[in-house]
Amino acid sequence: MKLERRIEGYLEKRKEEGTFRVLRQETGLVDFCSNDYLGVARLGILEEEVSGEGQLSTGSTGSRLISGNFKETEDLETSIAGFHQADAALLYNSGYVANVGFFSCVPRAGDTILYDELIHASVHDGMKMSKANRLAFRHNDAEDLAFKLKLVKKGVCFVAVETIYSMDGDEAPLPEIVAVCKQFKAYLVVDEAHATGIVGPKGAGLVQHYGLEEACFARIHTFGKSMGCHGAVILGTEQLKKYLINFSRSFIFTTALPPEAILRIKKAYEWLNESEDCREKLQNNIRYFLEQIKKTPWKDFLIPSQSAIQSIIIPDNEKVKEIAGNVRKEGFDLRPIVYPTVPRGQERIRICLHNYNTLDQIQNLVGLLNRF
Ligand SMILES: Cc1ncc(COP(=O)(O)O)c(C=O)c1O
Repeated sequence: MKLERRIEGYLEKRKEEGTFRVLRQETGLVDFCSNDYLGVARLGILEEEVSGEGQLSTGSTGSRLISGNFKETEDLETSIAGFHQADAALLYNSGYVANVGFFSCVPRAGDTILYDELIHASVHDGMKMSKANRLAFRHNDAEDLAFKLKLVKKGVCFVAVETIYSMDGDEAPLPEIVAVCKQFKAYLVVDEAHATGIVGPKGAGLVQHYGLEEACFARIHTFGKSMGCHGAVILGTEQLKKYLINFSRSFIFTTALPPEAILRIKKAYEWLNESEDCREKLQNNIRYFLEQIKKTPWKDFLIPSQSAIQSIIIPDNEKVKEIAGNVRKEGFDLRPIVYPTVPRGQERIRICLHNYNTLDQIQNLVGLLNRF
């Protein structure tokens, strides 16, 4: 009974702190919380295209190195590399798995990883599995990055950033970060999870928006957000790809994505070529939300962001949960983000905007927030 008591103790502590996580089923409420920014999953945009290809296997039967590698998988990697102007691409089962797979094996003992203090949990988990040193720099602060890089006297330096930050929704000052990386000969690794499909030419990401492909050692794109499917890819050189195939344990020791998932990713990329109007609609909704929220006292608590992710800081676990709960009762799906997902004092309501939200829904949401 000792283990059960210990587990219960941890759960009780979470409850006492107000940080106990519970699963909620999808509610059918007006969606202001999913990462399906362009409605690809919710509106079933790819369904017709995918079913038109006939029934494909939903099981890949093994890892890529055993029985789970297909011509279609490799063709997809080639075409994704082309789309993103990279030498090579390697698919992973998710963004989490890709970040863990990269950071656990590329930086080695004696190296240093400098990471933005708001970097995603998956990068943290990967870094913990590496023997490299790690050091945080202040969020989006290229000067602090330079200061910290100056402190590192030996080994290879890696710099880990996101392009659109998952919690704050703000954009990395990529050209400044690239300049600092060049100055200190550091290797830049960029996670484009929340920019994929939305930012840059045909949604190719912020790196391509700035034409900084050559300045990145690796880029991670994920498909579970605006691409409306599942999986992720690491972009880099052919040499990096070969290295990952040999050393990245989260690539090697897992069942590969099945043919059905490969087809969905392929269709999602094809769809990106014709989805400009969806991106425009999303941008209109972001502009409209910002106009509306700026008319309320919440504007002072809003983290400045021009992206689909808009966070309002309410530094109190119970308060933020109460507000989100009240809004949900009125039919709008908002989720509170509390400690330990974000640091204490940074608890927030994270509003995700989508192209399929109507202006009325946005106005009603802001009206409701204004009431609570
Ligand atoms: C910045 C960032 N990177 C990686 C991931 C993980 O991606 P996936 O959901 O495909 O595992 C997420 C998802 O929450 C994310 O926000």
